[in-house]
Amino acid sequence: MEVTTSGPAVLDSVVVFTARVFVEPNDTIPEEKFDFLWLNTVDHSENHTHGSYVSQLHRAFGEEAFGSGPGDFLMAVVVSLADQPRNILCFSTTVFKLTKRLNGNLQVKQSLPYRRSNNTFVVDQPIHFYLNITDRFPRRDSPKYTYFWYNGSQLIQETDQPHYQLKLSQPNVLHLQAVAMAQFSSAVRSVLATSTITPNDSTIEDKVGSFTEKLHFKASLSNCNMSRRDSSTQDQSLKLGNPLVLNITCMGSFPSAVCWNVTRQNSTLNNTCKPGGQFANTTQHNVTVTIGNTGWNTVHLAVYNDISFQVLSQNYYVYDPDSVDIPVLVFPMVFLVLGGVIAVVGGTYIVRLRRQAHVEVADFDFDPTISVRSSGSFSSLRLAVKQLFQRARGCTRSTPDDRYSVNPSRHMYDTL
Ligand SMILES: *[C@@H]1O[C@H](CO)[C@@H](O)[C@H](O)[C@H]1NC(C)=O
Ligand SMILES: *[C@@H]1O[C@H](CO)[C@@H](O)[C@H](O)[C@H]1NC(C)=O
Ligand SMILES: *[C@@H]1O[C@H](CO)[C@@H](O)[C@H](O)[C@H]1NC(C)=O
Ligand SMILES: *[C@@H]1O[C@H](CO)[C@@H](O)[C@H](O)[C@H]1NC(C)=O
Ligand SMILES: *[C@@H]1O[C@H](CO)[C@@H](O)[C@H](O)[C@H]1NC(C)=O
Ligand SMILES: *[C@@H]1O[C@H](CO)[C@@H](O)[C@H](O)[C@H]1NC(C)=O
Ligand SMILES: *[C@@H]1O[C@H](CO)[C@@H](O)[C@H](O)[C@H]1NC(C)=O
Ligand SMILES: *[C@@H]1O[C@H](CO)[C@@H](O)[C@H](O)[C@H]1NC(C)=O
Repeated sequence: MEVTTSGPAVLDSVVVFTARVFVEPNDTIPEEKFDFLWLNTVDHSENHTHGSYVSQLHRAFGEEAFGSGPGDFLMAVVVSLADQPRNILCFSTTVFKLTKRLNGNLQVKQSLPYRRSNNTFVVDQPIHFYLNITDRFPRRDSPKYTYFWYNGSQLIQETDQPHYQLKLSQPNVLHLQAVAMAQFSSAVRSVLATSTITPNDSTIEDKVGSFTEKLHFKASLSNCNMSRRDSSTQDQSLKLGNPLVLNITCMGSFPSAVCWNVTRQNSTLNNTCKPGGQFANTTQHNVTVTIGNTGWNTVHLAVYNDISFQVLSQNYYVYDPDSVDIPVLVFPMVFLVLGGVIAVVGGTYIVRLRRQAHVEVADFDFDPTISVRSSGSFSSLRLAVKQLFQRARGCTRSTPDDRYSVNPSRHMYDTL
């Protein structure tokens, strides 16, 4: 057998006890009618109920019934066959609590998409308080309830309903104290039950219950801004291996924390990251992101405080300076240099041919300024090419002005 009770109950309220009998599959019971004997340690009285397998006892314990006051008590249940009271089938007990004050629970409700701890709420949105008294009284004794809502010891509101709604506009702390008062006085009840005025023999004292919660009100994050520290904020390029340093600032209440994910460009995240690290007493963060993939990447950043979060994202192009990943620059450079060399070599050769005057050049109108136009690094290049030509010719013709270049080369041939 299992015996349960409806939980802590105030004096004079109805306590519900439930006994359940379980029968082994092989046990045979002549008749499924049982007698339940209830024995309590409050007033040491006996109660009988009848039933099959399940039975309930509704009992109110008045203050006058015992002198010891509230506390923990025992309820014992003895089950026997209805027609054979001496034939005891089973026996069990349960402990129950009687209190001086009303029992119930205070619920605080405000729907938020994100909440870090259950006692933190957002400003500028209504918050609902519900005070649910769980004590039940016999119908003839039903009390009139009044609810008082305090911040600490300062009364904010008095209501007839167990509900109060509040909206704060500034971050603040609320030392919420909700007090329920149950009045049993005949004057109150005759006002309530105007149609059927029952004779009042009840001497139930008025009762109170008090419930407290410490609530924190914070401002949600807004106006988040992201700036780049390792370069200008407009710069979307990043060298592979270099860290991306970002500075994130938001309006709103601290503490806050930040987390991020890096994905290929335009790929969406199934889940926004959750901050694992420490929340800091600030709404400004410096983060260092390293991106391992070259090409376009998206950095998804989320900033959290106690009651809200904001998501930011930004695209970055990561390049690897060591790879031939940037043909855009390489090819024009190669052709520019090649073109320069061809022009210089060609121009020098033509100038030489003209000087020798052995070749017919009249049909071709070569630009005489070609050697003048090439300047800077090209002019030194031209000089080098010219020397090369002279050296090559010196090997076969040996003119006096080729002395410097010819002799070392001859010497070189000799030694070889
Ligand atoms: C119930 O009876 C069956 C056969 O009669 C037996 O095998 C089984 O062990 C019994 N179960 C119990 C809990 O005694
Ligand atoms: C928050 O949770 C704690 C522990 O679960 C509980 O005691 C407290 O009453 C809760 N506060 C609110 C406002 O719900
Ligand atoms: C009041 O509390 C009881 C017991 O905790 C629960 O069953 C009931 O649903 C609550 N009522 C409201 C309105 O929250
Ligand atoms: C509640 O009382 C505390 C002081 O006890 C005060 O600091 C706070 O501003 C009050 N909150 C509201 C919402 O009035
Ligand atoms: C996002 O980043 C968190 C750490 O900040 C990590 O645990 C998680 O696996 C990442 N999610 C994806 C989809 O990359
Ligand atoms: C990403 O999306 C933008 C606009 O939606 C588009 O212009 C761009 O080509 C996309 N990039 C990739 C890599 O798909
Ligand atoms: C995201 O969700 C899609 C389908 O809903 C799934 O195919 C994919 O693997 C998920 N990605 C991650 C990183 O969990
Ligand atoms: C943040 O400030 C609160 C009080 O405002 C303090 O209790 C807490 O220790 C501080 N946390 C850090 C990490 O400084």
